Amino acid sequence: MIYQWYPGHMAKAKKQMMEDMKLIDVVIELVDARIPFSSKNPDIDSFAKGKARIILLNKCDLADEKVNALWKDYYEKQGFFVSCVNSKNGMGVRGVTEIILKACAKKLESDRKKGIIGRPVRAMILGIPNVGKSTFINSFAGKSVAKTGNKPGVTKGKQWIRLNRQVELLDTPGILWPKFDDQDIGIRIALIGSINDEILVTSELADRLILFLQENYQGVIGEKYKASEDPDPEITVLNIAEARSCMKKGGVPDTEKVCAFLVDDFRNARIARISLEKPDNGAVVGVSAPKQEKSAE
Ligand code: G4P
Repeated sequence: MIYQWYPGHMAKAKKQMMEDMKLIDVVIELVDARIPFSSKNPDIDSFAKGKARIILLNKCDLADEKVNALWKDYYEKQGFFVSCVNSKNGMGVRGVTEIILKACAKKLESDRKKGIIGRPVRAMILGIPNVGKSTFINSFAGKSVAKTGNKPGVTKGKQWIRLNRQVELLDTPGILWPKFDDQDIGIRIALIGSINDEILVTSELADRLILFLQENYQGVIGEKYKASEDPDPEITVLNIAEARSCMKKGGVPDTEKVCAFLVDDFRNARIARISLEKPDNGAVVGVSAPKQEKSAE
């Protein structure tokens, strides 16, 4: 499994983010609710020191509701303000203003004591690719908000979206990089579709997904495809091919096609609302990558 992220690209993103960080009061990190640990940037804590912090579990409509609640609790215990949102239909999005004000309450109070009154708090959206940053900004900002344009002391070209009298949002989100060094994280990011499919083996993704579902969401595959499940995921794929009459010429089961629609059905929550990882006694458990054979040297 390879996650492509070019070093030059990453250095540029880092530099930009550090510059933007100077301008803002609160960092809003979007993660994918199906993998709130694996889609979270590993380095952000060091960049965002001293800033108020919010985590939005976006795409919560696709994830398991019970597990969403576990993640909310998990991150709240770590001191974050957390909320579940569906940026696509707007569920939970309006409430984010209130969360921003709560997260910035200390800052607003200290401003007030210094006689600074009426300065809006400034927020920035960050997240790894495809978690829904643009969709969220569009939904949050709506159509009616005015862009404030350049301001003295603000880097030229920065646009702020004035959400209301109290909150301004940087209009371009910061793009973060995921964790690279962990195969389990790689496969979870791949399963939600944030890695270019061309570099992935769909059958491997489907196998790992089936194994995970059989352990954690028993019966959903059989129910969805009207096929019997087998402890061996490859046999389950063959059973689905048969149940769906998904055959190539000569009656050979089209396993590639089955794997492709299985992964696609998962991504669109057509199998069920599924979370690929969850907190468990302080650890995180979920879909795992095949164990790498150690080469004999
Ligand atoms: P990014 O800026 O972080 O890279 O992500 P972007 O907003 O482009 O969103 C990536 C995909 O995720 C889009 O789907 C978008 O519609 C979808 N999405 C964003 N938020 C949510 C959400 O809360 N729930 C669901 N179900 N989907 C969400 P797409 O297929 O790439 O585009 P489109 O066909 O939907 O326009």
